[in-house]
Amino acid sequence: MMVHIGSDGMIRAAHLLLLAVSVISVEDNDMEKGTNTHIKPVPRPKDSPIPGRFWDAPRNCNPHPYTFTRNTDICSRYRDIVLLIAVKTHFPHIDTRTVIRKTWGAKGLNSNFNVVVVFFFATPKNVHTQRAIEREHRKYKDIAQEDFVEDFRNLTTKVMGIFKWAQTYCSNAQNVMVTDDQIVIDMYKLVPYVIEHSGPGMQHFKLCYLYPCCTRVHRSRQTKYGLTKEEYKSNAFPSYCSGTAYIVSLSTAKALFSMSLQTPYLFMDDVYVGILAAKLNFTFLDSYKAFAGIGNTPSLMKNFMDSKYLTSPIMIGITDFDYRGKENYIMKQVWSHIQTSHSKEDEIEKNVVVIYEKDDGGKDMASWSELSFLNFLELGLIACVLVIIFAVTLNRKSKKSANKLV
Ligand SMILES: *[C@@H]1O[C@H](CO)[C@@H](O)[C@H](O)[C@H]1NC(C)=O
Ligand SMILES: *[C@@H]1O[C@H](CO)[C@@H](O)[C@H](O)[C@H]1NC(C)=O
Repeated sequence: MMVHIGSDGMIRAAHLLLLAVSVISVEDNDMEKGTNTHIKPVPRPKDSPIPGRFWDAPRNCNPHPYTFTRNTDICSRYRDIVLLIAVKTHFPHIDTRTVIRKTWGAKGLNSNFNVVVVFFFATPKNVHTQRAIEREHRKYKDIAQEDFVEDFRNLTTKVMGIFKWAQTYCSNAQNVMVTDDQIVIDMYKLVPYVIEHSGPGMQHFKLCYLYPCCTRVHRSRQTKYGLTKEEYKSNAFPSYCSGTAYIVSLSTAKALFSMSLQTPYLFMDDVYVGILAAKLNFTFLDSYKAFAGIGNTPSLMKNFMDSKYLTSPIMIGITDFDYRGKENYIMKQVWSHIQTSHSKEDEIEKNVVVIYEKDDGGKDMASWSELSFLNFLELGLIACVLVIIFAVTLNRKSKKSANKLV
């Protein structure tokens, strides 16, 4: 998949890219020493909210003894890859995967920079589900599946698997994005963003919706996602990036994986990565402005479809959990809007295909027909007012001319 940016932008981007490549290779050499061996964490700051057991843990206390039973050679098809987008998914989300493959994740979308999209699965307990995954893999060849049990409590294992996969099967990638399957990415903005943020003195997490230290820990009594005191003793989390999406360089991903081998497991994958980052003294670029949430609530949608609103976000998360099952529909609409606004902006060349397909579900149309109904109502009102004004004027004129005649 490639991304188009105007010719000026292209030259600028190419320069930045060269810069990024040279910087990253230096960074890689530095990291080589630490890869998959023991890395000495920085001393634990006295005010760190991270419980001590995560810091001073024995080597290999959290091994990753899994293998990829389904794999894709997608990275070997390119020489250089600007960005590997690793999508955390599981089988039931087949509809949103289909949308991603047809929209922002489509192959050949753009023609200047290589971005690859890979879907990461664990192994389902159900044999039929496994067969379905295999069918999906045969069809699209963009799946990597590791042999641990699929469960939300194993999400951290999945993310470590992504870091491991990146360094093993995609070592020609400069950057790795970890994201999920409920998101629309404005690829036209993302690639220039990544290139611009790959250089000397850049933060380790270059795209990040940051929860700064020290957000409060929810306990297991309160929610299914809560933690027990045994799992996490202190009452606050360190700084961490929302698991919705973040980007790190490949060498950062390698270091995070290595550090995970000597850091006890915690099922909240984003918090866990924050713990690893703290032990490595890694830094975050809080790019919360690149993120927007969108739901199926008509007012939210209407607000979002304002073209001014769309100029800032790159990552648009589908967040309205009251409308489960409609994510795919919202994603298609948002993507269609992104394409429209970009083609207006810089007249995208004809080789960029508009992949949006007509929606098939009549039911999904509800909120949209409501919107257009409102628009019709507005138009109708304006028309009524115009007709009345016209009628009154006409009436006056005809009275005047009648008076003249008399
Ligand atoms: C951690 O990084 C900061 C810069 O971000 C630096 O000032 C500090 O010395 C580092 N700490 C250690 C222990 O390396
Ligand atoms: C996570 O995966 C491991 C390895 O397959 C498995 O033993 C464990 O039961 C899984 N955890 C959950 C909560 O399913």
